[in-house]
Amino acid sequence: MADAVYPVPADWAANALITAPVYEERYRNSIEQPDAFWREEAQRIDWIRPFTRVSEASFHEADFGISWFADGTLNLAANCLDRHLAERGEQVAILWEPDSPNEASRAITYRELHEQVCRFANLLKAQGVRKGERVTLYLPMVPEAAVAMLACARIGAIHSVVFAGFSPEALAGRIQDCDSRIVVTADEGLRGGKKVPLKANVDAALGHHCEAVDTVIVLKRTGADVPMTPGRDIDWALGVAGQSADCPAEEMGAEDPLFILYTSGSTGKPKGVLHTTGGYSVWASMTFQYVFDYRPGQIYWCAADVGWVTGHSYVVYAPLMTGATTVMFEGVPTWPDPSRFWQIVDKFGVEIFYGAPTALRALMREGDDWVTKTSRKSLRLLGSVGEPINPEAWEWYHRVVGEGRCPIVDTWWQTETGACMMTPLPGAHALKPGSAAKPMFGVKPLLLDNEGQVIEGAGEGCLVIDRSWPGQMRTVWGDHERFFQTYFTTFKGLYFTGDGCRRDKDGYYWITGRIDDVINVSGHRMGTAEVESALVAHPKVAEAAVVGMPHAVKGQGIYAFVTTNVEVEPDEQLRRDLVQWVRREIGPIATPDIIQFTPALPKTRSGKIMRRILRKIGENDLSNLGDISTLADPQVVEHLVAGRPQMA
Ligand code: PRX
Repeated sequence: MADAVYPVPADWAANALITAPVYEERYRNSIEQPDAFWREEAQRIDWIRPFTRVSEASFHEADFGISWFADGTLNLAANCLDRHLAERGEQVAILWEPDSPNEASRAITYRELHEQVCRFANLLKAQGVRKGERVTLYLPMVPEAAVAMLACARIGAIHSVVFAGFSPEALAGRIQDCDSRIVVTADEGLRGGKKVPLKANVDAALGHHCEAVDTVIVLKRTGADVPMTPGRDIDWALGVAGQSADCPAEEMGAEDPLFILYTSGSTGKPKGVLHTTGGYSVWASMTFQYVFDYRPGQIYWCAADVGWVTGHSYVVYAPLMTGATTVMFEGVPTWPDPSRFWQIVDKFGVEIFYGAPTALRALMREGDDWVTKTSRKSLRLLGSVGEPINPEAWEWYHRVVGEGRCPIVDTWWQTETGACMMTPLPGAHALKPGSAAKPMFGVKPLLLDNEGQVIEGAGEGCLVIDRSWPGQMRTVWGDHERFFQTYFTTFKGLYFTGDGCRRDKDGYYWITGRIDDVINVSGHRMGTAEVESALVAHPKVAEAAVVGMPHAVKGQGIYAFVTTNVEVEPDEQLRRDLVQWVRREIGPIATPDIIQFTPALPKTRSGKIMRRILRKIGENDLSNLGDISTLADPQVVEHLVAGRPQMA
């Protein structure tokens, strides 16, 4: 069947910032004359000292290195705040909607945000925080999360935001990895009417060998009576009360670190992805303006959490650099009922909405009435991010939510890439449901076959990027060698994304999903190795292997094969215990959907687990297990197939 195609609506083709001919010309320039292209695009940033050098980057071992605008200096917080004060100081910067519709929303102007950031920055300084130091943020979706990020950027401290759904164990690992001695948190978070014990989680994490932490700043969100450790814990409000509202912005080199964000890979512990200041600022703000066709004054809402890269780039930094009004929502799409998102759209008059397919699939199941009873007439553009969007969910989003009039930008990118890499631009590209369409300016994607040969024209292969772009990550915190090994050795001299991809005859790109041992659960990236090591840490577990499985709402679910110690008789109780165990070790997002007990895992004679077979069982594709003759004990497979439980 031919793919459905939605042409660019006439008003978009006439009025968009980037129309089809503009895209073609600028894309060509960005690839053929990158220096001139980026020199011009970088003018969107207020540099303290202008750069003279644009880019020095090599993905080859001999001269490996990535740098952009290296001799320029700037401050990102000043670009988000100070430079707007004269023109739009009274404009709302952040529109905050609380978890419960019965609580008041908040509107914070650029002037107020600037003041709050300066006071908090001064509090950090008073605690001895210096340029280059790491500050861990473990906060709910409240404006203070943005305040804390911007305060770090203002004084040159490196923030490491840890998603507030992670467990104390996961938090402790991230605090230790970046040697952070200061943590910023809240008494409790609120999500879907439930309380999340953030301060208690921090206390538990600090009991896990985080001796270096000497300061914890605690925001009151719910007002819960949480224990405060004298000499270590500081109440946010009391702490900022005496601070000056004036805090000069630190002059940062373009390549000075901005933030660390931990993300899962196919092996080992989560990696601290490091982004630097200048290139990230240019890349995030440029993509924001073009992808969302952003015009001053528009109300824009990205429904991601600040704990993920989408929240960093498209809730906080890019919209604020661009002088936008950015909506921050504390809650969940389905509480108190599945109209919540669209009621917020109506309440604030949201024009641009950017969300994740997993939320759309959950809402789609609830029926159209929850959507159609709201107006949504303010909407003009929709976005999707984080995982492949299935054509069915895309069509629903387009037809029901957007009433057929709003283009959908399906943006493909990664924590590592800083901001959007491939997407349709709403005024330039006809839409094909499920396709991320075309590369962003400066991005040169290639598809390679398994031998590393470049596939020309239509075809499917491994997606790599053949040159640097400004918002590329610069290193893995504390392990530069791992950075090189992870991304630049699979295919020499190229950045390997870990994704599979198809290109059709029109040159449209279709991401097919991860081809490494990373799975994407509800748009949350998870290493199967992480879940496996959580499982084997349980005293009754001998061995575990984890794969992804198709899941109607989450996109992928977690399927775990577990072998217990010989003396243990696996039963339902153990299954429940293991589910709780993983939730405690990593967090609720890692909850296994299926645990299958098995006396043995399928291994080759050299002892390597044959994951290919486990993936097939996970997918319930049992007729097509492939060659199993190299297994040490092919009978294991029969047991596994016979014992495959169905989803509850
Ligand atoms: O597999 C791709 C998928 O999410 C991965 C990146 O995850 P993360 O670093 O957590 O960043 C998510 C937010 C950008 C990618 O390797 N992915 C992301 N966006 C899309 C996608 N897959 C298909 N279509 C997308 N639009």
